[in-house]
Amino acid sequence: MKKSLTLTLLIVGTLGAVAAAQAEDTRARFMAANCAYCHGPDGKSRGAFPSLAGLEVKYFVDQMKAFRDGSRPATVMAKHALGYTDAEYEAMGKWFEAHK
Ligand code: HEC
Repeated sequence: MKKSLTLTLLIVGTLGAVAAAQAEDTRARFMAANCAYCHGPDGKSRGAFPSLAGLEVKYFVDQMKAFRDGSRPATVMAKHALGYTDAEYEAMGKWFEAHK
C-alpha cells in the first residue's frame, strides 16, 4: 500500500514537471512569434534582419540587455527589448538556441 502511494506520488510529480516544462516552452514560442515578422519564422530570417535561430543563450540575453539599456545602438530593438523581463529573455534565448 505504502509503496504504491510512493509510486503514485512519483508519477504525479514527474508528470507535473513535464507539464511545467511544456508550458514554459509554449510561452517562449508565443513570445518568439512576436519577433517572426522581422526575424523570420522560428528566428530563421529570410531577409535583411539577422537570424535569431541558433544564437547562444548568453549572447542573446546580453544583446537584449544592451538594447534595453542603450549600450548597443538600435533602430527598433530598444523598444522590443523593453517589453520583456530578464527571465523572459532567458526563456526566448533557450527557445531560439534550440531552433537552429
Ligand atoms: C520591426 C522589426 C523587428 C522586430 C519585430 C524584432 N526585431 Fe530584433 N532586430 C531588428 C533589427 C533591425 C535589428 C538590428 C538592430 C537594430 O537596428 O535595432 C535586430 C536585432 C536583434 C538582435 C541582435 C542579433 C545579433 O545577431 O546580434 C536580437 C537578439 C534581436 N533582434 C531579438 C529580437 C527579439 C527577441 C524580438 C521579439 C521579441 C525581436 N528581435 C523583434 C528588427 C526587429
